Amino acid sequence: MSDSTTPPDSAPVRNRSVFNNWISAIGGILAIGALFSFALLVWMDFTQGDKNPYLGILTYLVAPAFLIAGLIFVFFGAWAQRRWQIKHAATMPDKWRLDFKNPRQRRTLVLFGSGGVLFLMLSAFGSYETYHYAESTQFCGEVCHKAMSPELTTYKRGAHARVDCVQCHVGSGAQYFIKAKINGTHQLIAYTMDNYKRPIETPIKNLRPAQDTCEKCHWPEKFHGNIDVEYSHFLSDKKNSPYNVRMLMRVNSGLPGSPTGGIHWHVNPDSRVEYYAADPKRQDIPWMRVTNVKEGTARVYRTEAFKGEPDPAKIRVMDCMDCHNRPAHSFPTANSSIELAMASGKLSTKLPALKRVAVQAMTQKDITTAAEAQQKIAAFLTLKYPDSPELPATIAEVQELYAATIFPERKADWTVYPNNIGHKDWLGCFRCHDEKHKTDKGASVKASDCTSCHIILTQGAGTQLTSIAAQGQPFKHPDGELDGDLTCSDCHNGGIQK
Ligand code: HEC
Ligand code: HEC
Ligand code: HEC
Ligand code: HEC
Ligand code: HEC
Ligand code: HEC
Repeated sequence: MSDSTTPPDSAPVRNRSVFNNWISAIGGILAIGALFSFALLVWMDFTQGDKNPYLGILTYLVAPAFLIAGLIFVFFGAWAQRRWQIKHAATMPDKWRLDFKNPRQRRTLVLFGSGGVLFLMLSAFGSYETYHYAESTQFCGEVCHKAMSPELTTYKRGAHARVDCVQCHVGSGAQYFIKAKINGTHQLIAYTMDNYKRPIETPIKNLRPAQDTCEKCHWPEKFHGNIDVEYSHFLSDKKNSPYNVRMLMRVNSGLPGSPTGGIHWHVNPDSRVEYYAADPKRQDIPWMRVTNVKEGTARVYRTEAFKGEPDPAKIRVMDCMDCHNRPAHSFPTANSSIELAMASGKLSTKLPALKRVAVQAMTQKDITTAAEAQQKIAAFLTLKYPDSPELPATIAEVQELYAATIFPERKADWTVYPNNIGHKDWLGCFRCHDEKHKTDKGASVKASDCTSCHIILTQGAGTQLTSIAAQGQPFKHPDGELDGDLTCSDCHNGGIQK
C-alpha cells in the first residue's frame, strides 16, 4: 500500500489505485462469484448426461449478467473514486477508500471477506441446486412455463406422466442441446414479455427426431403384434344408447422377429416414408415419397392439385410423432371426454340424453375464461335437470372434464391440437391414406381400405358384443350408411353431430 507512511483518512492520494474503494470491492466479489458459478455451470453443462435448455439460460444469460454487473460496479467505483480524488482529495477524508490500517475498516473488511466467501459457497450451491431444479418437470411446467399449463395438465393425465419433459423435448447430443438452449432462452424472453402465442404453436421447431427421444425407451423393432382395442361410445339419443366398437389393430403383421408389415411398417429400417405438408400443423399433405432403402428405389404419391416437387427443406421423414403426436399432451374432444366418463361410471347414463346435454354444456359459445366456463356449465345443466338428485355430481364431473381438457385463456383445446393417431375426429391417417394420392402411373396407397389397418371384431351393444367375428366385419355406422365421398372428420368434429 502506497499510503502506509501517511496517516489514514487524511492522505493526499498519490499512487493509490483508484480501484481501492468499497464499491469496486463489492463489484469484484460479485464478479468473482459470478465467474465461479459460470465455470461450475459450464462444467455441469458438459458433463451431465441429460441436457436442459434452462440450464443454458442460467449459464449463458444469468451468470454473465451478474459478471457484467460486477464489472460495472468495479469500474464505476474506480471512476467515482477518481472524480472524488480530483475534486476533494486535498480537503476531505476519503470514506470510500479501503484502508487496512483503520481498525474499524479492518473489522468490516474481515466481515466483508467472510461474507464474500459465504456468497461464493452459496452461489456454487445455488447453481447446483438450480441446475437440478431446472431439470424437473415442476420447473418446466409450473414455474417457467406457466404459459404451458395446458400441456402440463394434459401431461399429468397421460401415459407419460412420469417421464420428465426434458426426456422428450431436449434429450442428449450437442447439436440439439445448443438448439434447445437457444430455444429455451428465446422462450424465456417471450414469456417475460408476455408475447407468447396462445395457443402455443405446434409442431415444435427443433423437436428432436424420435430416434433420440421416443426410441430411447420404445425401440422400433419391438414387436407389438395385433393390438385389441375397444372404443365405448354413447349415442345422443334420450337413452344414451351405448355403441361399442372392438377392433384388432394391425400394428405388426408377420411373425415375431420380423416386424415389418402393418401399421409400424412406416418406421421399419428398410424403408423411408417422407412427406411434404402445406400447412404448419401438418394436416394438409399433398406429396409423399416411399424409398426402399436397400434397393434405392422410390415411389412418389401426389394429390391431383399438387404439381412439381416440394421445397426439399420442407420434406420431413416420417417418424413416431407423425402418428403418436400427442403421447403426452392429448386434448380429447368434448365428445370423447364425456363418453369416457360415462363408460367409467363417473357420469350417470340414467339422466335422459346426458351424452348430448353434457357435450353441449362443454361446447357452449363465447366462453373466454375458465371461471366463466364453470358457471355456464352449472347453469346449463341446472336448466336441463333441475330436480335430479344427480345434478351436483354431474355438474362437478363435467366441470372437471372441462378444466382438464379445454383452456379458454390459452385458446387450447382439441380443435387446435389434432391427434393424428386415428381418423374419426381429425384426418389422422387419412391425410395420406385416402385414394387421392397417386403415383404417376395412377396407383394409390394400397392400405386405404377399411381392413388394411384394423378389423372389427364386434360392434354395437348388448348381445351383439358377445360373438366375435375373427375374420372381421364391415363397420356398421350407428347413424346409417356412410356416403363414400365424405371422410369421418367432415362430420365428426368433437362436438355434437346433429
Ligand atoms: C412422451 C414425450 C413427451 C413428454 C414427456 C412431454 N412432451 Fe411436450 N410434446 C411432445 C410432443 C410429441 C409434442 C408435439 C410435437 C410436435 O408435433 O411438434 C409436444 C408438444 C409440446 C408443446 C407445444 C404445444 C402442443 O401441445 O403441441 C409444449 C408447450 C410442450 N410439449 C410442453 C411440455 C411440458 C411442459 C412437458 C412436461 C410437463 C412436456 N411437454 C412433456 C412430447 C412430450
Ligand atoms: C423415458 C422413457 C420414455 C420415453 C422417452 C417415451 N416413452 Fe412412451 N412410454 C413409456 C412408458 C414407461 C410407457 C408405459 C406407460 C403405461 O403403461 O401407462 C409408455 C407408453 C407409451 C405408449 C402407449 C400408451 C399410451 O396410452 O399412449 C405410446 C404409444 C408411447 N409410449 C409412445 C411414445 C412416443 C411417441 C414417445 C416419443 C415422443 C415416447 N413414447 C417417449 C416411456 C417412455
Ligand atoms: C403410421 C402411424 C404410426 C407410426 C409411424 C408409429 N406408430 Fe406406434 N402405433 C400406431 C397405432 C395405430 C398403434 C395401435 C394403438 C392405437 O391405435 O392407439 C400403435 C401402437 C404403438 C404402441 C403400443 C401401444 C399400446 O397401447 O400397447 C407403442 C408403444 C408405439 N406404437 C410406439 C411407437 C413408436 C416408438 C414409434 C416410432 C418408432 C411408433 N409407434 C410409430 C401408429 C403408429
Ligand atoms: C405421411 C403419409 C402417411 C400417413 C400420415 C400415414 N401413412 Fe400409412 N402409409 C403411407 C405410405 C406412403 C404407405 C406405403 C404405400 C404403398 O406403397 O402402397 C403406407 C402404408 C401403410 C400400411 C401398409 C404397410 C405394409 O404392411 O406394407 C399400413 C397398415 C398403414 N400405412 C397404416 C397407417 C395408419 C394406421 C396411419 C395412421 C395412424 C397411417 N398409416 C398414416 C403413408 C402414410
Ligand atoms: C390407414 C389405416 C386405416 C384405414 C385405412 C382405416 N382406419 Fe379406421 N382406424 C385406424 C386407426 C389407427 C384407428 C384407431 C385410432 C385410435 O387409436 O384412437 C381407427 C379407428 C377406427 C374406428 C374406431 C373409432 C372410434 O372412435 O370408435 C372405426 C369405427 C374405424 N376406424 C372405421 C374405419 C372404417 C369404416 C374405415 C374405412 C372407411 C377405416 N376405419 C379405415 C386406421 C385406419
Ligand atoms: C355424414 C356425417 C357422418 C360421417 C361422414 C361419419 N359419421 Fe359417424 N356419426 C354421425 C352421426 C350423426 C352420428 C350419431 C351421433 C350421435 O348419436 O351422437 C355418428 C356416430 C358415430 C359413432 C358413435 C357415436 C360417437 O359420437 O362417436 C361412431 C363410432 C362413428 N360415428 C364413427 C364414424 C366413422 C369411423 C366414420 C368414418 C368412417 C364416420 N363415423 C363418418 C355422422 C357421420
